[in-house]
Amino acid sequence: MGIVFEAPWRKRPRNRILERAMLKRIAVIGGGDELYASLVEASQGKEAQVVALPPGGEVPPGTVAIVAGADNAGPVIEAALTVGGWNEQVLDLLAEAIDCREGFFVGSSLRVKDHASRFAQALDLTPDERSILERGAALRDIGKIKIPNAVLLKEGVLTYDEWVLLQQHPEIGGEIVEHIDGLKDTADIVRYHHECFDGDGYPRGLEGDQIPFLARAMKIVDVYCAMTSPRHYRKGHSSHEDAIEYLTSEQGKHCDPELLDVFVKFDVGRLEVEADTADAG
Ligand SMILES: [Fe+2]
Repeated sequence: MGIVFEAPWRKRPRNRILERAMLKRIAVIGGGDELYASLVEASQGKEAQVVALPPGGEVPPGTVAIVAGADNAGPVIEAALTVGGWNEQVLDLLAEAIDCREGFFVGSSLRVKDHASRFAQALDLTPDERSILERGAALRDIGKIKIPNAVLLKEGVLTYDEWVLLQQHPEIGGEIVEHIDGLKDTADIVRYHHECFDGDGYPRGLEGDQIPFLARAMKIVDVYCAMTSPRHYRKGHSSHEDAIEYLTSEQGKHCDPELLDVFVKFDVGRLEVEADTADAG
């Protein structure tokens, strides 16, 4: 039987989707105390139990997902994440775990997912496209699971080699999801969410229409949410107006100008920012 970690948790908003979920057991292999603690923290208030699994240990019954840390990176993550099948609740939990590991506020990735959902509506996407964009939003940074803490959490300036390593997270994430039934349709979003419309992005330097449509949409949501969310490496964050002004001034550089017009016209971000401000008060 695995270890169930318990600790006094600070109050945090509960996720309604996860509250309806059945108990999900998530096994963690390696990754050190930080990864384990981040998953445990993300699981609080949800029907989820996180257990530590020694390398080579028997997978506990009822396990729906296994997360391998950076020191156990490799094929194990692609194979193990499919244990027991995928579902949206596990997906959201993993997204929150990645947020916790990076020191983001719990719910940051789910906020990105909410914005992606509203943007999908504004773009009049089909239900299938909307689902892909939402799941891709939650999973876009899953490749960071394989980035060492020394790089991911470094507070100072990254060295060239560290920056190159960090820039691999979209490619790593794409490789992870494209091997998982039910998630492979998100691979383009995960792999290309840091590509820029002018070709100045990474990991492949694609430009314009070379970048898949949903990845171009994801880019806008990602930049907007990155600017308007707290981050461990900076104090404060931008207002909705400042983020829109920046995105508009950069039109055609980072983002697809036609898609950005829709994002701005439908004011996709505003309601969420107002809700955040109200919560903070
Ligand atoms: Fe990313």
